[in-house]
Amino acid sequence: MAEPLGTAMFRAPADAYDRYVGRYSGELARALIAAAGVDPEWTVLDVGCGPGALTAELAMMLGADSVAAVEPSEPFAAACRERVPGARVEIAPAEALPFADGTFDGALAQLVVNFMADPRAGVGEMRRVTRPGGTVAAAVWDYAGEMTLVRAFWDAARALDPSAERADERHMAYCTPDDLGGLWTAAALTGVDVGPVTVEAGYDGFADLWGPLEQGVGPAGAYTVALAPDARAALRDELRRRLGAGDAPFRLTARAWIVTGRR
Ligand SMILES: C[S@@+](CC[C@H](N)C(=O)[O-])C[C@H]1O[C@@H](n2cnc3c(N)ncnc32)[C@H](O)[C@@H]1O
Repeated sequence: MAEPLGTAMFRAPADAYDRYVGRYSGELARALIAAAGVDPEWTVLDVGCGPGALTAELAMMLGADSVAAVEPSEPFAAACRERVPGARVEIAPAEALPFADGTFDGALAQLVVNFMADPRAGVGEMRRVTRPGGTVAAAVWDYAGEMTLVRAFWDAARALDPSAERADERHMAYCTPDDLGGLWTAAALTGVDVGPVTVEAGYDGFADLWGPLEQGVGPAGAYTVALAPDARAALRDELRRRLGAGDAPFRLTARAWIVTGRR
């Protein structure tokens, strides 16, 4: 069976992911947990856990034995197991969750819904494994707007190569408040709410930002490593110019949409 695109793009080493968007994941996870109204008595499933930033935040709040996680990428699942000993981490996609109906008080997915092969099926599964009255919630970057790193990357790529438009992450489905709200409503979730959250991350200098892209992580990394050396160097220089970044430390902000609903 062909590997889903969303999985193939996340085969890069977990530490490369952590130095790419993983830098924002801890703060985003805390915002998602708060928006979902997670209660300290709950059991929660983290769908598409990656190297485990949300899983770790949930385990700190609930205890690792009240947290389960699924992830289709084996290196990421292994990194999550290592980061959060005691949490149940399974290799599985959102579309086929290996849990009985109503197992969890909440099911959360951080930066995953837009990568699912079948988001309707994936959110339907998140609803199925959540108890009646429990919460299903997700966060997705504002790719078209204020996720500065990813937006600047694709703007730079398109300036040098118009065909990069096809790979620009702003064209992914379910990256706008309307699309996310519609997906949650179509999954028969109630009390659906979508709102913004802005998080921040620091870099030692531009090389610190560029390094993980050279390791092929995510759609931007996959685009970068497919370029010939000259084109790759031109993209690096254009991105640096657009961010106004040099060798000094700097910070970037990133906006995400958080959608919540009740089963
Ligand atoms: C941007 S990463 C987010 C990882 C983690 N949740 C975080 O916030 O750091 C996207 C994750 O979704 C996973 N993924 C891709 N397709 C998926 C699917 N159909 N079901 C569940 N996870 C999937 C990828 O393997 C990757 O770990």
